[in-house]
Amino acid sequence: MMRARVPLLLLLGILFLASLSVSFGIVHREHHESREEVSVLSGKNNPFYFNSDRWFRTLYRNELGRIRVLQRFDQRSKQMQNLENYRVVEFKSKPNTLLLPHHADADFLLVVLNGTAVLTLVNPDGRDSYILEQGHAQKIPAGTIFFLVNPDDNENLRIIKLAVPVNNPHRFQDFFLSSTEAQQSYLQGFSKNILEASFDSDIKEINRVLFGEEGQQQQGEESQQEGVFVELKREQIQELTKHAKSSSKKSLSSEDEPFNLRNQKPIYSNKFGKLYEITPEKNPQLKDLDVFLSSVDMKEGSLLLPHYNSKAMVILVINEGKANIELVGLREQEQQQQEQQEEMLEVQRYRAKVSKHDVFVIPAAYPVAINATSNLNFFAFGINAENNQRNFLAGEKDNVISEIPTEVLDLAFPAPGEKVEKLIEKQTGSHFVDAQPEEQQREEGPKGRKVHFVY
Ligand SMILES: *[C@@H]1O[C@H](CO)[C@@H](O)[C@H](O)[C@H]1NC(C)=O
Ligand SMILES: *[C@@H]1O[C@H](CO)[C@@H](O)[C@H](O)[C@H]1NC(C)=O
Repeated sequence: MMRARVPLLLLLGILFLASLSVSFGIVHREHHESREEVSVLSGKNNPFYFNSDRWFRTLYRNELGRIRVLQRFDQRSKQMQNLENYRVVEFKSKPNTLLLPHHADADFLLVVLNGTAVLTLVNPDGRDSYILEQGHAQKIPAGTIFFLVNPDDNENLRIIKLAVPVNNPHRFQDFFLSSTEAQQSYLQGFSKNILEASFDSDIKEINRVLFGEEGQQQQGEESQQEGVFVELKREQIQELTKHAKSSSKKSLSSEDEPFNLRNQKPIYSNKFGKLYEITPEKNPQLKDLDVFLSSVDMKEGSLLLPHYNSKAMVILVINEGKANIELVGLREQEQQQQEQQEEMLEVQRYRAKVSKHDVFVIPAAYPVAINATSNLNFFAFGINAENNQRNFLAGEKDNVISEIPTEVLDLAFPAPGEKVEKLIEKQTGSHFVDAQPEEQQREEGPKGRKVHFVY
């Protein structure tokens, strides 16, 4: 039939153009072999993808370290409005350094991504120091003064913090006790009269001791610090870590001690991947924030099967490696109304090629699949986590579709119920599977898919 030929050429042409448009991050429609189309958002048009180079703003930086904050979620897309009160902060410091004491008007949930940290929390009745390593987490309640040491001689320290601001839904501030080139000590905000009366000392003495305003020239070494990160000597590190408690043995901690995400058994584990998770039900610090924490390791070439979180909004932070993420939502209503007509409710695919330090948000109820294109490690904060369920849409275990009765499958899908069941049961793996099963390779030949989409 002639009719079939022309559209085929046309289709190929469209596919070619579509693949070009993806590389520029343009919205396009993807055509499967059947006539159905799916609209795809990728690159910078995907509002759930935060490229590390583009979406972080630097708060402090000197040659010893850096603190960056991620752009507000709610400003990026209305679909993340309820993440308004959450911010992500990234921290990196060089070996043998100290981040000076400060507090903030936000609760923090701190997770060590790489390296070793000695975290000291200071309270009016004492202080506690903890040694934290990769996968260790600790809540820092709002207003708690803390300082952080990177005691290692060689390795950088990388930390990610979830910040939940107290005064303002999306803003928080760091209050530093001492003055540096980067910021003033908050004590300097008080008037001379208040300072003199409070410290029962002359203002000259106070200035000299706390603010280094006088005598700076005479005592060159005691001059103002260059930034909020300072260098430590070996003896100073020894002194500061002497009383630090190791938290590596703890997995489910008490009220205020750090906990280790990887100290208990992974909830999913096979040769393709492992998922470790601590939920609010199991940990008082997480219960307080209503957050779950997870850490996922995946082998190159494995797939985290399509699933959705029943009620948690999940913020992924890529620690190592690369992955392709596909997230599925429905096209926004307004968009559809503009296009008029009573169109079918269309799905929207959000695609991202993520790598080290990128952030990706998975809204509640949106199905997602993750294809590890190299060995991969990521951490996740689940917001609104209590009683959250991870519902898988494929695989043997935890698969919600397989719980739908045959009679209903029969009515819902074009094929008879038993055929649908057979298809659903075909995948015998669970949670993590091979991203390129042999059967697919055979059908498609060694060169892979016929249609390539360039990112
Ligand atoms: C930090 O990351 C490097 C590179 O991936 C790894 O070799 C090292 O073991 C990590 N260190 C810690 C303490 O996790
Ligand atoms: C995963 O990504 C690899 C590399 O891009 C690709 O060959 C493979 O087909 C993908 N698998 C799935 C299930 O998307």
